[in-house]
Amino acid sequence: CGIVGYTGASAAEPILVEGLSRMEYRGYDSAGVAIQQGAAIEVVCRKGKVSELAHTLEHFDFTGTCGIGHTRWATHGKPSEANAHPHTSCAGDIAVVHNGIIENFAELREELIGRGHQFKSETDTEVVAHLVEEAYQRMRAENSGDLRAAVAEAVGRLVGAYGLAVMADGEPGTIVTCRKDSPIVVGRGQQGSYVASDIIAMIDATRDVVVLADDQMARLTPDGIEYFDLEGNAIVPEATHVDWDIDVAEKGGYPDFMLKEIHEQPRVIRDTLAGRLSGGSLVIDELDMTAEELNLIDRVYVIACGTSYHAGLIAKNLIEGWARIPCEVEVASEFRYRNPIITPTTLVVAVSQSGETADTLAAIRDARVKGAKVFGITNVVGSPVARESDGVIYTKANKEIAVASTKSFLGQVVSLTLLAMLLGQSAGELTTAQIKLLFSELADTAEQVERILADCGPAVEEAARAMMDAQSALFIGRGMGAAASYEGALKLKEISYLHAEAYAAGEMKHGPIALIDENFPVIAIATKSAVYDKVVSNLQESRARGARIIAVATEGDEDIVKHADHVIYIPKVRDTFSPITASVPLQLLAREVAVLRGCDVDQPRNLAKSVTVE
Ligand code: G6P
Repeated sequence: CGIVGYTGASAAEPILVEGLSRMEYRGYDSAGVAIQQGAAIEVVCRKGKVSELAHTLEHFDFTGTCGIGHTRWATHGKPSEANAHPHTSCAGDIAVVHNGIIENFAELREELIGRGHQFKSETDTEVVAHLVEEAYQRMRAENSGDLRAAVAEAVGRLVGAYGLAVMADGEPGTIVTCRKDSPIVVGRGQQGSYVASDIIAMIDATRDVVVLADDQMARLTPDGIEYFDLEGNAIVPEATHVDWDIDVAEKGGYPDFMLKEIHEQPRVIRDTLAGRLSGGSLVIDELDMTAEELNLIDRVYVIACGTSYHAGLIAKNLIEGWARIPCEVEVASEFRYRNPIITPTTLVVAVSQSGETADTLAAIRDARVKGAKVFGITNVVGSPVARESDGVIYTKANKEIAVASTKSFLGQVVSLTLLAMLLGQSAGELTTAQIKLLFSELADTAEQVERILADCGPAVEEAARAMMDAQSALFIGRGMGAAASYEGALKLKEISYLHAEAYAAGEMKHGPIALIDENFPVIAIATKSAVYDKVVSNLQESRARGARIIAVATEGDEDIVKHADHVIYIPKVRDTFSPITASVPLQLLAREVAVLRGCDVDQPRNLAKSVTVE
């Protein structure tokens, strides 16, 4: 999603529309602006792209010089005009744009409805408009505060992540902004004051900006910007000078979207888990099934294509391990053309980043006709997979631009892990204490991925140089490591055009070992697990035939250097969660090899981001 706001000497509308267009790559299911026009706040929202909003705005004659705007990538509530931002309070005197997720919005909404507030949308954001309205009206009546104070009071009630920009018709020319775990940038240009969730939206006006820290606020007026903490004390934040060009700015300073998206993964893990555990029980209400109904499930099929299929391979181990329910994973294009055994107690889990892959959709339709219950796991709210499934879990990856999927994959793995835990809990196989422990370790992977991103660059680069001129590469692992290696091989072939295959390491001697010579790199997932020694034996077999070995290993494992030419260390995690951490260096390795080979990392030849044809 993208936030933009402007107050100054010029008309706000074209500045807002230009800012929104610049941020459109982040999401484009709806867009809207709120402009102070005389004594009132006028709001115009449209479903669809920013260009549709711009077209609609041609019919208005807005001259106001203060406004806020938003381009939305739906998280709560389907993409629609009613759910588009800005959101307003009951009286329409407060307008709000928001990025992030308010985790306690359902409670707040009920509380506000109890006090007579009427809601117009399904979004989490609308509660903010109502909370600010209440505080603002009270403070005005008591003469005890202003919009800034009202926003500070309102955010005190929020649990979750937010970047906010707020206007009140009682304070013409003023925008108040604040943030927690969602970016807000503020800057002063020649024509006025700017706020946005991304520097790209204001880069033409100024390159000297303040990136707000959590719990900092700013008040923008045509004459300047003041900064505060949440108690209302004035603060002097650190200023930043930006010298990126626009192309780099869109990528947040990264050379390509893939690298930017790889680095977003800790946030994806956190967002996907946010609000999912309450008092030792998993909360996945969207699935709309009671524990008793879930307990009846006696067979699971995970169906998907490409990278999403690999997320399914990981889930099989978890579903069978935790819930003791037989689980098969199948590519959708096969599933739809055979006659799988489906009964009313069969659960089909359809995994699709885009939510529109033709084969996956066809498989969903087929499974439902045959009487299965279907759950979708997708990144796109309101997508066909979401609409056509009985229940849906959204991976909170936000829009993924690079064709090769990275952050969506991790979001899928985390979502499937939650589903496997839920099935285990409903089946009585996992206790509350086990759920709490697993959940907390799963949440810890966000920090572990952060550490991998911070630390493993040099080792990845060394490994990439060692294999960049190879013709072919083999990825091997066992158990969870085998599942991760399939995705590692797919990433490499997708973007570097280097032929790669993945094998369960135990199968090496039944064929692939014949290929091995000194030009043949073997990438092994050799993290600590019950099958570690077996993987090491397979490495020794390969090495004895001259293979160059790159091992992804657990920190502290000094022994592995005896069996590998290059080692990429990652933090120790429970084996069940190792695909989450092990996938990250493999993504980085694929990207690094592609860069060294001069390939277009974000848009590899022949591939499409979503395949809507059979
Ligand atoms: C295409 C994309 C892959 C993706 C696959 C399945 O092949 O290039 O990155 O994994 O489709 O897409 P879905 O949107 O259903 O996850």
